[in-house]
Amino acid sequence: MVDSGALVWRRPEPHDHARIMAVIDDWWGGRSMRAMVPRLFLEHFRGTSYIVDDEDGSLAAFVIAFASADDPLTTYVHFIGVDPARRGRGLGHELYARVAGEARARGATRLKAVTSTVNTASQAFHRSVGFEVAEPVPDYDGPAEARVPMTLHLD
Ligand SMILES: CC(C)(COP(=O)(O)OP(=O)(O)OC[C@H]1O[C@@H](n2cnc3c(N)ncnc32)[C@H](O)[C@@H]1OP(=O)(O)O)[C@@H](O)C(=O)NCCC(=O)NCCS
Repeated sequence: MVDSGALVWRRPEPHDHARIMAVIDDWWGGRSMRAMVPRLFLEHFRGTSYIVDDEDGSLAAFVIAFASADDPLTTYVHFIGVDPARRGRGLGHELYARVAGEARARGATRLKAVTSTVNTASQAFHRSVGFEVAEPVPDYDGPAEARVPMTLHLD
């Protein structure tokens, strides 16, 4: 069930970059993730992304997604994160439901994402959403940087 009574859903603003930077390494279990979400995503992909604020103004969750510039059938989800204190209550699924609904309305037939091989929780979460989780692709993002491609079919 989504505990959404106290949550405010909106599009990101550039100032949200600093708020995401303040929590992202903690939310990703201490991994160094800050370089993965440069401010450009909060300036140029606002209309396909979401920020979820708690009513006290703290960041509850975010998703950064965009329509593929080269493949109109694909919406790519770059990052999705939920405050550890709010996990397991459907917020991640709700973020994906909104992104998928809007992608479908644009005529997209699939969501794509990649995750790291070590992030088995992300793989499990994406499976629970309905994504197909492929075998890791070696050197996907450079030497020894394997990634796990994931696809959610919308039709
Ligand atoms: C992945 C993440 C976004 C899920 O958000 P959430 O709000 O907890 O997700 P939901 O409550 O909608 O869905 C939970 C379901 O996902 C799956 N899941 C989530 N985390 C899991 C984990 N650590 N191990 C196994 N399954 C997991 C389960 O099926 C779970 O259902 P259950 O609670 O009934 O078992 C959140 O855990 C997170 O922010 N993780 C750190 C950031 C990250 O790795 N993001 C993804 C890569 S970009």
